[in-house]
Amino acid sequence: MKWFKQTVFYEIYIKSFCDGNGDGFGDLLGLTERLDYLVELGIGGIWLTPFYPSMQVDNGYDVSDYCAVDPLYGTLADFQVFLREAKKRDIRVVIDMVLNHTATNHRWFKEHPDYYIWKEQPNNWTSFFGGSAFSWDVERGQYYYHSFAHEQADLNWANPAVKEEIKQVLRFWLDLGVDGFRFDVINNLTLDLTFPDNPVDENGEVLHKYDKDQLGIDGVLTELAAFCRDLRPDVFLVGEISSDQLPEIARYSHPELLDVTFNFNFGSIETFAPEKLFQELVEMEKVLPAGQMPTLFFGSHDMSRSFSRLANQNLPLAKLLAFVILTARGVPFIYNGEEVGMSDLTFASVSEMADIQGIMAYEQGITAGMSEQQALFDASQKTRDKARGPMIFADGQAFSTANRTWLKQNQESSEKVQQIFAYYQRLLAFRKLAKYAAEPYTLLQYEEECITYQRGKYFFAANFSKHKKAVAPPNGRLVFGQEEQGRLAPLSGAIYLMEEENEDYY
Ligand code: NOJ
Repeated sequence: MKWFKQTVFYEIYIKSFCDGNGDGFGDLLGLTERLDYLVELGIGGIWLTPFYPSMQVDNGYDVSDYCAVDPLYGTLADFQVFLREAKKRDIRVVIDMVLNHTATNHRWFKEHPDYYIWKEQPNNWTSFFGGSAFSWDVERGQYYYHSFAHEQADLNWANPAVKEEIKQVLRFWLDLGVDGFRFDVINNLTLDLTFPDNPVDENGEVLHKYDKDQLGIDGVLTELAAFCRDLRPDVFLVGEISSDQLPEIARYSHPELLDVTFNFNFGSIETFAPEKLFQELVEMEKVLPAGQMPTLFFGSHDMSRSFSRLANQNLPLAKLLAFVILTARGVPFIYNGEEVGMSDLTFASVSEMADIQGIMAYEQGITAGMSEQQALFDASQKTRDKARGPMIFADGQAFSTANRTWLKQNQESSEKVQQIFAYYQRLLAFRKLAKYAAEPYTLLQYEEECITYQRGKYFFAANFSKHKKAVAPPNGRLVFGQEEQGRLAPLSGAIYLMEEENEDYY
């Protein structure tokens, strides 16, 4: 069985994770020091966000050099130490690859303008951060295309030279020993190069129709995937698909394309509803090609923290969400801090924000005539800084030895931190021992706010209601979770071992 099918991944937003040199920013040194914490937690893989030299306009997703380390985070030698230490602990390392765009200070932008996309006149395409997707380049006297910030110029994937350059980048990191890549907005690589205007919806919003999922994307992805798999047959490829349409997300998950793709319908929903969650689990099973696995996550560096957004600061609900991603069928991704119930940061002024998405929302609000307060409110909704605050560790150690951190830090109750962490630990340990990760569902149902499923010899129940529920199957023995007078406790999850199997796990 492919290793990723039983691996629980942990996303590390490096800038906020652990500051090893006391300058207020997380770095590779700090991350390496914290590997034992990850062992204690029980995860098996890391997804590391970009650590390459960057202007930091979009916190590293504006890459200036694909084959080096930003001095903010250390050196290539530090990366190699980190990788070696992770491997020693049986932790796989998957790194972020931002192939859709480079920073405008990448040397290619000047040396190889043909690697980018130029136009005499902009059309109506908008950047995902707002505003036009075209910026004027004085030197060239033309507009270049950028689907994100204007410092992030899109690469021209219609130019075969781009593909060859990128292959060398992938080879560089695979040769160093990374276990896989998380491909950023990977379905945006190809465009309709006749540049028709994008359609506009009834609210005046320009839709993304001709600037993603265009002809040629399958060919490019198949070629990149085959290239990686030739070098490293067990490489893991996970794609971020910029879409909330499940069939679109699912179709890129294919033996010749990506191993798995992130499903944002599942993970980034605004409010929590158990029935919606259940339907999404069912839908994923229906639309994914046979043998492919869904991803399961409730948070990332791009969205509000699940403890605030979905669990509404409710501790049992936060644990129950963890229960679902660690027991349902799929490859789970825990976002750093989720395992201790970190909540969203709040902002008293735009000067406290670092994320371009929030800052741009503020500026656009002011330009549109909003009051400062309104613009701040709008920016606070949109800023991804909410979820990027300095990591709080279960052992209570402070983020940095210096006085400043790049974002302010929340205080979290140590009781909450301990409780959620212990729950994750127990469940991760159980998951490893019980080996249900690759089992298909033999049952998946929903009744009165309770999701139940059976996988292999285990029966799982996630009770999202405020009432005790009699969910135990007749021949099931409780092996994880709590019952009260023979019924599953409110807002809690339980696992039953079907009786004919008589192993003693707990
Ligand atoms: C998705 C990344 O997760 C996000 O943080 C970034 O801003 C965009 N892609 C652009 O690279």
